Amino acid sequence: MDKKISRVLKRLENKSNYEEKNFDRIPHDERMLAITKDTGIFYNTILRMQKPKRILEIGTSTGYSSLWFADAVLGLKTEILTIEQSQKKIDMATRNFKSAGVSKIIQIKQGNAKDVLNQMLKEFRKNKSRKYFDFVFIDADKEEYGFYFEASLKMLKRGGIIAADNIIYPKRFQTYIKKYMDYVYAKKNIQTSIIPIGNGQQISIKIK
Ligand SMILES: C[S@@+](CC[C@H](N)C(=O)[O-])C[C@H]1O[C@@H](n2cnc3c(N)ncnc32)[C@H](O)[C@@H]1O
Repeated sequence: MDKKISRVLKRLENKSNYEEKNFDRIPHDERMLAITKDTGIFYNTILRMQKPKRILEIGTSTGYSSLWFADAVLGLKTEILTIEQSQKKIDMATRNFKSAGVSKIIQIKQGNAKDVLNQMLKEFRKNKSRKYFDFVFIDADKEEYGFYFEASLKMLKRGGIIAADNIIYPKRFQTYIKKYMDYVYAKKNIQTSIIPIGNGQQISIKIK
């Protein structure tokens, strides 16, 4: 593991542990809401096996998950795009990427994820030499997981992976997650598994 990235991840893990114990005291726009450390290790392992050229993340926050992705692809010339709407979180993520030495491989796209994805889809369709994604990670507003999945699937190469966090916990999202999972399971061109790591991961592979 890269030393600089590891140092930033450790600092963010301490912050995340503090957040867990003092959740109600932390202002909403300052919460990290990060994936757990074991989730980070899990995706780092998947990405080391997959060796993706392009990664898309929906929901950057302070960049904790992006840093796990970056560590897995160092030296592979992989491009990581990550979408976030909050300026405060973008500022924190930018600082974290700089301290970890990965600013060059991670690009933050600011805006509402739906608008950003619609714009990306427009450009994707116009461009003849289309740049597909190999790996997509969904971790923003749960109400829109279905839209994020559908939009990402169009830009995902065959054999590519779409993953999502919070499939099992917290329970307050269960109505949205159930609707999302019903939609995912009904799709014919993908194969899906749920893995009980962290808050519950969903991994889908595009098979056609
Ligand atoms: C659960 S956090 C992401 C955590 C991050 N993936 C990590 O593990 O470090 C969700 C983030 O998505 C952002 N977000 C929520 N809804 C969004 C939207 N519609 N468009 C863009 N960003 C959004 C929030 O501001 C928040 O920072």
